[in-house]
Amino acid sequence: MKINILTTYCALVMLLFMGCNTKQKHKMNTQTDHIGQKVDSLLRIMTLEEKIGQMNQYNGFWNVTGPSPEGGDAALKYKHLEAGLVGSMLNVRGAAEVRAVQEIAVEKTRLGIPLIIGFDVIHGYKTLTPIPLAESASWDLEAIKTSAKNAAIEASAEGINWTFAPMVDISRDARWGRVMEGAGEDPFLGSRIAEARVKGFQGDDLSQYNTIAACAKHFAGYGFSEAGRDYNTVDVGTSTLHNIIFPPFKAATDAGVRTFMNSFNELNGIPATGNTFLQREILKKDWGFNGFIVSDWGSMREMIAHGHAVDNEHAAELSLKAGSDMDMESYAYIRHLVKLVKDGKIDEALINDAAGRILRVKYELGLFDDPYKYCDLDREKDIVGNKDLHDGALDMAKKSIVLLKNENQLLPLKKQGLNIAVIGDLANDKTSPLGSWRIAAEDGTAISVLEGLGNYPNNNITYASGPKLYKGIPDFTTEVDINTTDKSGFNEAVNAAKNKDVVLMVLGEHGFQSGEGRSRTNLELPGFQQELLEAVYKVNKNVVLVLMNGRPLAINWADQNIPSIVEAWQLGTQSGHAIAQVLYGDYNPSGKLPMTFPKNIGQIPIYYNYKNTGRPSPSDHDANTVFWSHYGDVGNEPLYEFGYGLSYTTFKYENMKLSSNAFKPDGTLEVSFTLTNTGNYEGKEVVQMYIRDLFASSTRPVKELKGFELVNLKPGASKTVSFTIDSKTLEFYSANNKWEAEPGDFKVFIGGSSNTVLEADFSLSSN
Ligand code: BGC
Repeated sequence: MKINILTTYCALVMLLFMGCNTKQKHKMNTQTDHIGQKVDSLLRIMTLEEKIGQMNQYNGFWNVTGPSPEGGDAALKYKHLEAGLVGSMLNVRGAAEVRAVQEIAVEKTRLGIPLIIGFDVIHGYKTLTPIPLAESASWDLEAIKTSAKNAAIEASAEGINWTFAPMVDISRDARWGRVMEGAGEDPFLGSRIAEARVKGFQGDDLSQYNTIAACAKHFAGYGFSEAGRDYNTVDVGTSTLHNIIFPPFKAATDAGVRTFMNSFNELNGIPATGNTFLQREILKKDWGFNGFIVSDWGSMREMIAHGHAVDNEHAAELSLKAGSDMDMESYAYIRHLVKLVKDGKIDEALINDAAGRILRVKYELGLFDDPYKYCDLDREKDIVGNKDLHDGALDMAKKSIVLLKNENQLLPLKKQGLNIAVIGDLANDKTSPLGSWRIAAEDGTAISVLEGLGNYPNNNITYASGPKLYKGIPDFTTEVDINTTDKSGFNEAVNAAKNKDVVLMVLGEHGFQSGEGRSRTNLELPGFQQELLEAVYKVNKNVVLVLMNGRPLAINWADQNIPSIVEAWQLGTQSGHAIAQVLYGDYNPSGKLPMTFPKNIGQIPIYYNYKNTGRPSPSDHDANTVFWSHYGDVGNEPLYEFGYGLSYTTFKYENMKLSSNAFKPDGTLEVSFTLTNTGNYEGKEVVQMYIRDLFASSTRPVKELKGFELVNLKPGASKTVSFTIDSKTLEFYSANNKWEAEPGDFKVFIGGSSNTVLEADFSLSSN
């Protein structure tokens, strides 16, 4: 009912408005302008309180389909909802539940403005896909896009219309638990994945019932928290900020992402939530972003602890002035903005802008046309957990696995006649593979490795868990309590490994050992796992190590001793099926690491696109000198470099050719080479192109990824692959404080990892 009155009123205002200015009428011909007019009309009839209400987001706070809450915070929030003082809610899910809150907003409030319903749809919703870091290891942009699309289909069937994803924070520090949520260390790969995820969630038409608004987070610098400790201080220079941290956010903006989330960290002294440079200058002005920015959970209020805002009212003032449009759970806007406007400290134009941005996205979602479009009980029943979603999750899971080592052709396993010992608590775990950020999924819903192996019944499997990995049942909010005292099961596991053809050891981290608040200073295998691995290896050398983890681990001993190592991350609901299919060769692994694996923790931060320094190697005339950039106890090289990953087949790179050795700023250069499958299996290779800008106004990394492609080849087959380089490829944020390509000499490298095998020189002329 309310909606009708509102719609009619807005239409009238719009007609009047359009009628009095033909020039403007002409200008407002596009869909976006049309929405802009609706927003303006609506803002004109809203009270200051109602506009501020749109900027207020509350967490789900009572049993929404039950009676309304009495007393306490919940009752107050409920009252706010009824009074039209809430614009969004998060963590309300289920078609019936979302309908219940939406009905209050639409039927009971003066203007009936629908809520936008947010949720952390980070890697799938109820049917979980691999953690984002794992998906990124596929380098398969189409698959990643489809995965996000499927997540949107499932989440929207449960009433959700806005996800707090993709997380596009670049990080070089595996101690930071949130690396599991991102795309790894590289801005180019991170940018392509950011685009794929945004397009997957949002589709071509945001107003469809099965697409949802995406949110690029956390703007900005969150992945550079000092020493990898979550929420810690961030202090980065201009070059790193623009060249490394910003690109995926910019790519998400260009891909049309409708919302941003700011971050908990300070950036060079100013908390991101109160950071005008980040939000107003870079995002809204330079990049022309016209969606809205939500704060991170309580991040406005946290500016008091940062030592930036003196109290919550000051936090509200700083946040709004800096460009934060919506308050997630700080209660800063709802409590203080009216007074701040009345005291003349905040210009109402800032409120109009923020509320207008939020209303715009609601219009784009089609919520004003049908606020219940995501609340169809039949659709929810049909969609959630259906076969298509499980098939999609399995496909993505297989593509995410990285083969790190495979000596003596231990893999793929023969499908019959083998006696196999399967060892490790994680092999039988149906929860841990779900990883972190899985609020809508139920515990115990992942296919375990043991279950996956059950699909290959002609081998003989003996399972021994070894010591329990953790004590009790880990949960989302508390520290995972690793078992370091109870060794029961250790000897039994070692005995099970004796006289077997192959031992599969499934080791790694619990799913809740990475994620938010899960930083670690030790990246080795936790608990008794390393000791167990060494003891098993003593009695049987044919060990295949299957790793499950949410971040790069330091597994130097394993790399030196264990013949086969498979990186299986946390692969989601279909985990065990995907792992079994790879182990048995029904899927030939093709993943490549999106993040460097260190030899030991002391090498961190370690990343492939480092700077050369003034002393990259011992001087020529004094090879024994210590005065160069290195460690005395371990080399500078990582254990496994960025872009690395093996296949059951092998590939040869040769015949590199450049179309010319120099090109002009408006020209292009073709780089081509031949890729041949020289092994015995059909396989996919991620071919990678890197460049190096040899001399620049602001120094450039020794290598930068600038292109990649997935190439599938049958045994013996060859293909000519080519990449185009233009001046855009060579642009960087220079010492002139702008993006530009500087004329000069470059190198281009080609290979199957950042340790490339082919290289050539070229130059960019000034004209
Ligand atoms: C996280 C965000 C998340 C939000 C809502 C915060 O703690 O940093 O990434 O979207 O909670 O759940």
